[in-house]
Formats: sequence, structure tokens, C-alpha cells
Amino acid sequence: MPTHQTKTNGSDASISAASDNNLFTMSQKITINFIAADSRSVLATGKIGATLMEIAVSGGVDGIAADCGGLLTCATCHVFLPEAFAAQVPLPDAEELSMLAFTAVPQKPNSRLSCQIKLTAALDGLTVELPATQY
Ligand code: FES
Repeated sequence: MPTHQTKTNGSDASISAASDNNLFTMSQKITINFIAADSRSVLATGKIGATLMEIAVSGGVDGIAADCGGLLTCATCHVFLPEAFAAQVPLPDAEELSMLAFTAVPQKPNSRLSCQIKLTAALDGLTVELPATQY
């Protein structure tokens, strides 16, 4: 028996750029499972090349505020990436690392700012956890 509710949102985050090593078409949709601190989950879909934050916002994921719209100035798009997917995304750059110091919930080793993670086909089915608050 599931321990949490799952809601599916058919969001359609826009594409800003394709990954150079992306072997799939830009129109391919992938699904991300966002798990809130209270264990509720929301499935959101979006296109390759969008950011994790864009999929969350367009999919109505409550736990992502993204106040700066992806300009890397707010740290309100904080997520926790599972270790299994950590190797599938580039490491955070110095600017993201410095902004992670300003998250409302203290950062963990697997903390990332979702506006800095571009979606690739390898991330289809990714589950990310959300902090209890972004403020
Ligand atoms: Fe503001 Fe990610 S949306 S830092």
C-alpha cells in the first residue's frame, strides 16, 4: 500500500537548450517525481533541455518557489538529488555552490539548486526530495 499520494501534472516546460550529448529529440518528454517533506509526491513531465526548476514550476510543485526565475540569486529552488542520479548531472559550479549556503533548510551533500540542472533523457524517472521550506 502506498504511503503517500501521487498527483500527475502534465506540465510542458519550455526548452532553452539541448544538451550536447543528448541523443534524444528535444520534444521527448521525461517524468520527474518530486517528493515533499511530508512524503506527498507530484509527478511532473517536461521536455529535455528544460531545467528541473522549470518542470517543477510548470507542473505546480508547491515545494519549489524559484523566486528569481532561474537567475541563481534566490536559493528557493533547493532540492535533494538521490545518489543514484548524482553521476547523471554535472557537478555544481562555484556560483551554485556559493548560493547553496543561503538555502532555508541547511544544505546536505546531495543538495542542488534545481534551476541549474538541465534535463536529459538519463534523468527520466528521477525522484527528487524537497526541503520542508524554501524560506
Ligand atoms: Fe533562484 Fe534557482 S530559481 S536560485
